[in-house]
Amino acid sequence: ATTLGASAAEKGRYFGTAVAAYKLSDSTYSGILNREFNSVTPENEMKWDATEPTQGSFSYGSADQIVARAKSIGAKVRGHALAWHSQQPGWAQNLSGTALRNAMLNHVTQVATHYKGQIDSWDVVNEAFADGGSGARRDSNLQRTGNDWIEVAFRAARAADPAAKLCYNDYNTDGQNAKSNAVFAMVQDFKARGVPIDCVGFQSHFNSQSPLPSDYQANLQRFANLGVDVQITELDIEGSGTAQANSYASAVRACLAVTRCNGITVWGIRDSDSWRASGTPLLFDGSGNKKAAYTAALDALNGG
Ligand code: G3I
Repeated sequence: ATTLGASAAEKGRYFGTAVAAYKLSDSTYSGILNREFNSVTPENEMKWDATEPTQGSFSYGSADQIVARAKSIGAKVRGHALAWHSQQPGWAQNLSGTALRNAMLNHVTQVATHYKGQIDSWDVVNEAFADGGSGARRDSNLQRTGNDWIEVAFRAARAADPAAKLCYNDYNTDGQNAKSNAVFAMVQDFKARGVPIDCVGFQSHFNSQSPLPSDYQANLQRFANLGVDVQITELDIEGSGTAQANSYASAVRACLAVTRCNGITVWGIRDSDSWRASGTPLLFDGSGNKKAAYTAALDALNGG
């Protein structure tokens, strides 16, 4: 096929992008979004600070705009993210112990209920493991409420929206290393004990210091072998030209080679939409033109 979404669909997968609600009125941006993608992830609009700015009072306007656009173009929605140590509203940052645990659980329940039936996959918990060689949980206010905070968040999400696939999402877990080993052990344990988890997201923010790992596909496969879907959730690759194009093609091929890798999301549309302060990590240039990376990704989706 001739677009990312349609080509991925032919392979039983989706191809998505992060979307910012305030850009939906930009016609270049919207034109590419509507044409190319069949999944969207709200870049910031479903995060805790956006959806519950004051405790117990919920604000869904910007996220609802993105969900409405997704519906109108027939795209799936990846919900991002119910429980995360970052982008918490100030009131939550100031809580601890039982008060924070209960606030987190109420947040998960309320947001998942608001979007019940409309979310393909939820990032229930984001970035809960530490970087480096420890394999430990990240120290955070949520972690300090007790090691079981992750599983109780997953159970609350399942109760609120039984049809949504529930994912754990992280970065620097794209290859086999101490951090991904620790996530692997958690998923294995959740599966063994019946904690509801359906998918693992690999953010895949790549640059020249940490390029596509050589065991990327093998790592996706070992998680899939645990009985979860795997998804590339925030793909962007620093660089330009042929090198960048080849890396995008390799990432797409890695997903296609893993039966349970059911979707790829890039973290923005044009280079100018990227969260990265500088650089050119995406598939379209600042004017919305297709880059070599776009053509390589499309060709890879089509088996090239
Ligand atoms: O909305 C305010 C605006 O009112 C204000 O004028 C402006 C001034 O700086 O800031 C705006 O908020 C910014 C927000 O993006 C919306 O643009 C925040 O400062 C900024 O911190 C925030 O950055 C987001 C970042 O997550 C925060 O952690 C990025 O857009 C977003 O792409 C990024 O996404 C994360 C994923 O959620 C998790 N994985 C890593 C990924 C990249 O960092």
